[in-house]
Amino acid sequence: MKRKWWHDKVAYQIYPKSFLDTNGDGIGDLAGIISKLDYLKNLGIDIIWLSPIYQSPFVDQGYDISDYYKIAEEFGTMEEFDTLLAEAKKRGMYIVMDLVVNHCSDKHEWFRKALADPDGEYADYFYFVKGKDGKAPSNYRSYFGGSTWEPVPGTDKYYLHMFAKEQPDLNWENPGLRQEIYKMINWWLDKGLAGFRIDAIINIKKDLKFPSFEPDGPDGLVSCVKMVEEVQGVGAYLEDMKHNTFEKYDAFTVAEVFNMKDDELAEFIGDDGHFSTMFDFSAHEAMQGEHGWYDGNPFRFEEWRDAIFRSQKEAEGIGFKANIIENHDEPRGVSRFLPEYAQNEAGKKMLATTSILLRGIPFIYQGQEIGMTNCRRNDISEYDDISTIDQYQEAVAAGCTVEKALECCYENSRDNARTPMQWTDGKNAGFSDNSPWLGLNPNYTEINVAEQEKRDDSVLAYYRRLIALRKSPEYAETFTYGKFIPAYEDKNNIFAYMRTLEGNEKGILVVANYGKEDCEIDLKKTDAEILLTNMNGVEEMKKEIADRGRIILRSCEAAVLYL
Ligand code: GLC
Ligand code: CA
Repeated sequence: MKRKWWHDKVAYQIYPKSFLDTNGDGIGDLAGIISKLDYLKNLGIDIIWLSPIYQSPFVDQGYDISDYYKIAEEFGTMEEFDTLLAEAKKRGMYIVMDLVVNHCSDKHEWFRKALADPDGEYADYFYFVKGKDGKAPSNYRSYFGGSTWEPVPGTDKYYLHMFAKEQPDLNWENPGLRQEIYKMINWWLDKGLAGFRIDAIINIKKDLKFPSFEPDGPDGLVSCVKMVEEVQGVGAYLEDMKHNTFEKYDAFTVAEVFNMKDDELAEFIGDDGHFSTMFDFSAHEAMQGEHGWYDGNPFRFEEWRDAIFRSQKEAEGIGFKANIIENHDEPRGVSRFLPEYAQNEAGKKMLATTSILLRGIPFIYQGQEIGMTNCRRNDISEYDDISTIDQYQEAVAAGCTVEKALECCYENSRDNARTPMQWTDGKNAGFSDNSPWLGLNPNYTEINVAEQEKRDDSVLAYYRRLIALRKSPEYAETFTYGKFIPAYEDKNNIFAYMRTLEGNEKGILVVANYGKEDCEIDLKKTDAEILLTNMNGVEEMKKEIADRGRIILRSCEAAVLYL
């Protein structure tokens, strides 16, 4: 593999709306982010990904952009953004923005012009398609529920939206549109941006015949994913975009890719792939229901571990995936992947250990480093997420009680990750002087940054040690370029793997006990060196290794050993 500047980096995702509010409007802002750069530096972060901060009506929380060249007023000004870039640079950190170009907002100038002249130049920036027999052109269900087609007023045409109807899809077939997008990307890169997280990008290729498929739900529609899976040729667009933009700047790109075709991994993230890396969603996909949250799969440890292992092995020798346990679209990892008995600080540190030391680029989502959890709500009106509201309604339509539908939201809602960052146990968790835009998780009185700063055994302190270990001069090479080799796979509830460099006799064993009972791990070596553990009792562990070449892992115990 060709060496790249981002290979050994650790990234952090900020959800600006919920990070830190400095002007008391209840909405996080750029000034808040700037004021916490030292906090992030101290954590060991190199790359910061900001969820969208562009001008937006916020129908989908900023993933509906009405002007790609403007900072949303809610978040601040372009001057503040430039300050953020400069302050990050001073600290040797990189800023990455969200790139949302499968669609824009229906308030974007292009779409307004398109509606004003449905046969004109701008209509072709979108998919304006004639209906069939007085109905929509096809039977696709959008990602947020309902048809992907919305009538264009005063015409017999419909426009396509894979997400909300306020997010019309952009027509990538149109060379003029593509040039506009490249120009915009380069404008930001010229400012000194290090790269982009690329949103929903697999969707940009459409089958222009828009064929209907067999319905897959009681609404008579079929998931629009079906068309995405069937159509060929997205790669040509991705290459064209890369050559015209990222490549010229040696920019870092991390793509959100679902439904990639088999055997395309090298084309996506290989040495000359479309992107630097892409998120590994295999663990999240394994839990997805056939119809929605209400029929999702329960968490099963072995399935989860095996999904991650398969994904790790698949990327070996090809490229790096970006490893996450959560993001702004997912519930909190500690609430999802830890059994009830492990939902404590030891368990949270264990999950961090097995995730952060995988092969690939670790992405930490804001609040993960203090072990923030899912948040229970008593009524659907307490949610502010278009997808949660849709999933709730689908659950009820499928016959679930309100209680059951709310339970689904508690387990799956995107708002679980979007509750304001918990800085202190004071007013509004130190997030804002005023009422936050989205209700806080009441557990901020126990789980918050200020409290954890005081303790050397906190989750936060552990994240710092873990990241420092990953980046330490002695082991960075192994953690970055070392192979991933599954270990102790036959042991119940054990998550273990080796990281070893080609030609080295020794390597690093990462091993954790997700079970309830103690578990003996036979190392067959009496000279293993302990690099990190997440519980007390290091002396006993040392002794077990020296005397008997083994360790006994208690429930929720994790160890990183050089052997
Ligand atoms: C991506 C984003 C998600 C958004 C969607 C539409 O999946 O992560 O938050 O709703 O794209 O832009
Ligand atoms: Ca604010």
